[in-house]
Amino acid sequence: MPVEVDEALALRPGAVVVDATLGLGGHSLMMTEKIGPQGHLIGIDQDEAAIAIARDRLKGFSGRLDIVKSNFCGMDEVLSGLGVATVDAVLFDLGVSSLQFDAPERGFSFRSDGPLDMRMDAQAATTAEDVVNERSEKELGDLIFQYGEERFARRIAQRIVAARASMRIKTTVQLADIVLRSLPKGYQRDRIHPATRTFQALRIAVNRELDVLPDALGSAFSHLKPGGRMAVISFHSLEDRIVKQGFKALARQGSAALLTKRPLIPTDAEAADNPRSRSAKMRALERIM
Ligand SMILES: C[S@@+](CC[C@H](N)C(=O)[O-])C[C@H]1O[C@@H](n2cnc3c(N)ncnc32)[C@H](O)[C@@H]1O
Repeated sequence: MPVEVDEALALRPGAVVVDATLGLGGHSLMMTEKIGPQGHLIGIDQDEAAIAIARDRLKGFSGRLDIVKSNFCGMDEVLSGLGVATVDAVLFDLGVSSLQFDAPERGFSFRSDGPLDMRMDAQAATTAEDVVNERSEKELGDLIFQYGEERFARRIAQRIVAARASMRIKTTVQLADIVLRSLPKGYQRDRIHPATRTFQALRIAVNRELDVLPDALGSAFSHLKPGGRMAVISFHSLEDRIVKQGFKALARQGSAALLTKRPLIPTDAEAADNPRSRSAKMRALERIM
């Protein structure tokens, strides 16, 4: 949603901006054009492979560029390490990048077989394989229900536990087959593949996506200058709820003005051009004190 981000952040030449989810640097590239040679871009990502690509794409930027491998929940440390106290804008574009999703060896997708990994940070301790094989049936059921909003979560957890009794579950296709076999015959709730929600749930659990978000939003806000802006793009209702509630709380306290009363969604043209953007929602605010 580059146009929406551009409008929401209202970047001026010389601005200091944090891209908290650098990814492949697409949004950063656009932001560097706005902030120009006097500007300062700080890019954060927990994925080293993404950082390498973004660094290369941003090499033409002549302003100050700092790229740091970190979870965005460590934004306080990242900024203090760079000697930066306040910034003009922060962008969060949550979720996985196409680089992560499309690489079978990263294990995010069941479209091709790969190891059940799903770590955005390849150095993180826990993989999806660990979660699937080591959590109790109750824990698995809860997490698939909560993070996947999957109504057959209990049946899926039951099948996983039965399957792993004879063999460790190691690959994406192995897990997708188990999920398929757990569902009632002919079950086709909507257009998505029946394993999509279970995979989403595991990815959220492995990367602790919902645990780190509230504090990260608070920390980012605390570094905004008065008049500074923050935009968050989320891809599922659980994330959007956290963003909505966090932003509302800041507005109620009188610290922020909401720039989006309702979340912005991609135009039909963008959704057609980039089908993955279909579920994107963007919210933005301005710090007023
Ligand atoms: C949707 S992509 C961002 C794409 C980017 N805006 C672009 O234009 O290329 C999300 C990125 O955020 C990173 N990410 C997600 N959660 C993170 C977290 N808690 N800390 C740091 N990076 C995170 C992922 O590794 C991924 O590279």
